Amino acid sequence: MDLQLAGKKALVTGSSAGLGASIARLLAAEGASVVVHGRDAGKAEQVVKAIEAAGGQATFVLGDLGTDEGAAQVAAGAGAVDILVNNAGYFEHSRRWDDLEAADWAAIYNVNVLSSVRLIKQLVPGMRERGWGRVIQIGSVTGNLPQVTQPHYAASNAARHTLAVALARELRETGVTSNAVAPGGILTGTAKENLTALGQAQGWGTTWDEIEPNLVRALGPNDVGRIGRPHEIAGSVLYLASPLADYITGSILKIDGGWYDAAAA
Ligand SMILES: NC(=O)c1ccc[n+]([C@@H]2O[C@H](COP(=O)([O-])OP(=O)(O)OC[C@H]3O[C@@H](n4cnc5c(N)ncnc54)[C@H](OP(=O)(O)O)[C@@H]3O)[C@@H](O)[C@H]2O)c1
Repeated sequence: MDLQLAGKKALVTGSSAGLGASIARLLAAEGASVVVHGRDAGKAEQVVKAIEAAGGQATFVLGDLGTDEGAAQVAAGAGAVDILVNNAGYFEHSRRWDDLEAADWAAIYNVNVLSSVRLIKQLVPGMRERGWGRVIQIGSVTGNLPQVTQPHYAASNAARHTLAVALARELRETGVTSNAVAPGGILTGTAKENLTALGQAQGWGTTWDEIEPNLVRALGPNDVGRIGRPHEIAGSVLYLASPLADYITGSILKIDGGWYDAAAA
């Protein structure tokens, strides 16, 4: 199927690693020119090289999206884009209410939510003028089904989802759509590291293969029975980015293996 992405230009924030890198690679494989982003030049350059080696087109920009200045630098470096994927962010699986202060909640909101707001303010007016565009937030299943761990992260995801829907209302009848993807657990390098440490502390095993089934049962029970792989989430982002999805806006697309609330199952 042709996703009609050839000739489109996309900025994927936080694409120097993990899910963002997977989204960037798939967009480029479909013919989009991709602006890779991160804070570390070496990591961003590696992703660009991998895309080029596969025959795709990519450049990179650097900047901390936790500040207005950093976001302005990223937007200026990217230039006009047709597709903005707001993926940059962080999580802290092992943290709980008792060791989180108000400053921790503010810090995660700043990076996971306000980074998107900063780029939307800079890049969406151009999409509006050109009459076509895509804004895609990466959120998380925890935005709807928070867990006992990382409540500050769950709250930031609820905000990411709400932001996507509110922006769709703002962009009514402009040709620019706004949606969110809500993944379950994704086996990126950072998540594997975080979750292996958590699993070992909980006594769920020593290796990842031992820990994964126990972790899924305890923290993210789902009908597929495992954690997702980055390309499985990236595929849904590509679909929402495609002109084939012109009639989808204000949606939160769950890609979570059928994650369910264990208490209600
Ligand atoms: N992994 C999961 O299980 C999971 C599940 C649901 C949702 N998500 C969401 O998916 C997104 C990607 O997760 P991931 O597992 O791929 O994470 P990751 O491997 O740690 O990658 C995070 C990316 O975000 C960038 N980033 C972080 N803070 C930034 C900041 N202040 N300014 C600019 N860039 C920043 C990082 O850049 P540097 O290279 O400079 O560090 C990196 O490129 C996150 O927003 C996360 O909340 C993840």
